Amino acid sequence: MLAATIAPARHIRGRLRVPGDKSISHRYALVASLAHGRSRLTGFSTGADCHSTLSCLGRLGVEIAVGADGTVSILGRGLGGFRAPDEPLDAGNSGTTMRMLAGVLSSQTFISTIIGDASLSRRPMGRVMEPLGRMGARIDATNGRPPLTIHGTPLHAIAYQPEVPSAQVKSAVLLAGLHASGETSVSEPAETRDHTERALTAFGATVNRRGLTVSVEGGQRLLAGEFAIPGDMSSAAFWMVAAAALPGSRVEIEGVGLNPTRTALIGVLRRFGAKVFVEVVGTDAGEPHGTIVVEGDQAGTLAIAAEEVPGLIDELPAIAALASHSGEVTVRGAAELRVKESDRIAALVAGLRNLGVSADEWPDGFTVRGTGAPRGGVADAHDDHRIAMAMAIAALAAQGPSTINGAESVAISYPGFFETLGRLVA
Ligand code: S3P
Repeated sequence: MLAATIAPARHIRGRLRVPGDKSISHRYALVASLAHGRSRLTGFSTGADCHSTLSCLGRLGVEIAVGADGTVSILGRGLGGFRAPDEPLDAGNSGTTMRMLAGVLSSQTFISTIIGDASLSRRPMGRVMEPLGRMGARIDATNGRPPLTIHGTPLHAIAYQPEVPSAQVKSAVLLAGLHASGETSVSEPAETRDHTERALTAFGATVNRRGLTVSVEGGQRLLAGEFAIPGDMSSAAFWMVAAAALPGSRVEIEGVGLNPTRTALIGVLRRFGAKVFVEVVGTDAGEPHGTIVVEGDQAGTLAIAAEEVPGLIDELPAIAALASHSGEVTVRGAAELRVKESDRIAALVAGLRNLGVSADEWPDGFTVRGTGAPRGGVADAHDDHRIAMAMAIAALAAQGPSTINGAESVAISYPGFFETLGRLVA
């Protein structure tokens, strides 16, 4: 286990790019594998999670090459074209890999098993097993947890209304729907990221959207293409929050994905008191991208309500670090955080308290109250990349050095995080 030492910083300053968007990278890899022809994906996430998706697809017979510059080339096998794997498919730490792949494998002509690491093996899979089962899928699990053994079988379309707003569930059902007879629809209780809808459209499918309902007809032909993946807003979030929390900071992040289902943090930081400037520079494959500048100013009091949670789900660990120096942040209606890579509510509150920050735990959220520079201390990442990064950002506000145990977990979404941090505080 790696320990990172974080020295206090008065402010952070600089211009940077962040790794390619994790959600988009997973989807392009998966959809390119189902398409006809060779796709080229630039800006693909360097995070371990997206490489778990690539390695699962490789075991399913998809020809994949990663160039020296990180460009990913994928020769698609068409719908229903995967080969039976000779070993279990290892999704590593990635819930997105396991849930979306389950949607695709349900209709193949073979049996496959998807396994994951200790953290993923604790996460609920019933939320995808239930709708896929209604489509005719046969999936075995133990008490709704991984590994998943999937007995491929022909599927039929359903109209699905999930109880939990989840882009992974929506995506699993839509991807299964592509392989099913008839038109499959998903009506969400709240809007979640729509990268699957945009990716399917970019690869030539027809996707119908009305309000919070999205539908696809089965059997559509997908076509390969060349796609550029923008930087990950959920990685940029840590620098945005650090700049907002430390007055006198200024960060400029270029090439960040600005899909409106992912940008809620911008408004949140403005409410907290930061100056945030956003410029859309272009749109690739339906995904807008551009530059974000954040300057730290006055800290305020911020309350995140339940309706805002789906649009901020991956940014909530960063938001917890926002008030580690001054101001106050309360998040409620976010019980979903308890079933992420770790129990993020417990991990955030414990870690912040260890650093000397005042934090309260609620069943569905937390309150963090900044009362000047905390003393610093030792915080644990709980094998969770976003907890490691949130603790590092909180530690910047401390009076003395802090230690983050389990710092290697940042490689799940952001290899190079600590190097960039070193540059921005210098
Ligand atoms: C993701 C959806 C979200 C998010 C996860 C990535 C995706 O999960 O937390 O990191 O790429 O679809 P849920 O669908 O479980 O909310």
